[in-house]
Amino acid sequence: MDSSVYALNPQAPDRTGEDRALRERGPITRVDVLGVEAWAVTDPKWLRELFKDPLVSKSAREHCRDFENIVATWPLALWVSVENMFTAYGTDHRRLRKLVQKAFTARRTAAMIPVIESIADELLDDIDATHTPGEPVDLVAAYARRLPILFICRLMGLPEEEHDRVRHLADVIFSTSYSWEEQKASQAELYALLSDFVALKRENPGDDLTSALVAARDDEDGTLSEKQLTDTLLLMITAGFETTVGLITNAGFNLLTHPEELGHVRAGRATWSDVVEESLRRDAPIANLPMRYAIEDIDLPDGTVIRAGDPILPCYSAAGRHRGEYGADADQFLVLRVKKDHLAFGHGAHLCLGAPLARAEGAIALSKFFERYPHARLADSHTRTPVPSFISNTLTRLDVVLEPLPEGDTQ
Ligand code: HEM
Repeated sequence: MDSSVYALNPQAPDRTGEDRALRERGPITRVDVLGVEAWAVTDPKWLRELFKDPLVSKSAREHCRDFENIVATWPLALWVSVENMFTAYGTDHRRLRKLVQKAFTARRTAAMIPVIESIADELLDDIDATHTPGEPVDLVAAYARRLPILFICRLMGLPEEEHDRVRHLADVIFSTSYSWEEQKASQAELYALLSDFVALKRENPGDDLTSALVAARDDEDGTLSEKQLTDTLLLMITAGFETTVGLITNAGFNLLTHPEELGHVRAGRATWSDVVEESLRRDAPIANLPMRYAIEDIDLPDGTVIRAGDPILPCYSAAGRHRGEYGADADQFLVLRVKKDHLAFGHGAHLCLGAPLARAEGAIALSKFFERYPHARLADSHTRTPVPSFISNTLTRLDVVLEPLPEGDTQ
């Protein structure tokens, strides 16, 4: 193992290259995460082991050696200081997760499908009505960034006039290129917005997840604190938005640049779900997720010892292209790939709660778009611009020309 410390690039101009460099340093390696040293894990087998190890915790408050200092200075402090299921351990985690779990059962998710479909149709109608034929449309701005926010805000009951502000504030959380001061200012605005929102729902409850959470907080004997309530809302809105934008954008880009793979779907050899899974594997929307902590010293098979209190950084995008797991063609986008499982939604107790919803949103968004615009192609003016983040793994824009159907062609 290379014992030097590899500094993650906060602008993340080359996700694939950085991930390759991390894998080449071994299954686990030292990295600098905006000034905090951590163990980066890129091997899917090692990640699965660590995720089910009870000695690995997401609670920085309980298990990070340097918690106070990190909260006071680290630009990514919010990722480890929020008080919700994301940063909770053991029974606390189970209690906080249970509060929203029932909103995401298979039955509840199936009931959401007509709503997602109608949002996708409306957005595509909007594109139809506003774009100039032959002129490029930015698919990220017009579609990928709109569908998930419209849906999650409807689920949570957040008024439509706040969507743009929430989208911007969520972007800041996922970006790794802001200073601690900039992050602080943005978070103060987000918390003010969330606390007004809770007050609104307390006054005028509706048929939404926020009202259900407020009722749970007010009915309970104080086990759900006001801070946990607000931080759960923050988690649901941000986790349900940024990640799904990444999935739709990455999968759209992959299909536009691999027409033969889109051909497999059109010919019925592959499904939209195959596209979603292969995109999640190859281009995990969350590249690296801060942070986990060792509760006691952990001995690894190669002799490495993770010391109690050390931070651990799971590297999902590097794991998705691991050759030991996916073979020599791990970098390629192949919708007929046999090995489909991946870690893009995590694994174990903290497995993404919204995975069924995200999968449905991805499949609906892609099928609706490519059915309406079967001749869509990347614009000549398109240039690849990754978002400046080693957490988010996606593009800032996707310029697409929506070629009209040739005369007499019905598909
Ligand atoms: C493609 C889209 C998505 C991706 C790639 C994704 C990925 C992830 C990942 C990697 C985790 C962390 C697992 C860990 O700690 O290792 C996570 C957790 C979580 N996600 Fe997602 N997510 C997506 C969409 C969503 C949606 C749509 C929602 C809900 C509306 C959601 C809600 C959550 C929640 C609540 C957690 C915390 C679970 C826990 O700590 O117990 N996610 N997600």
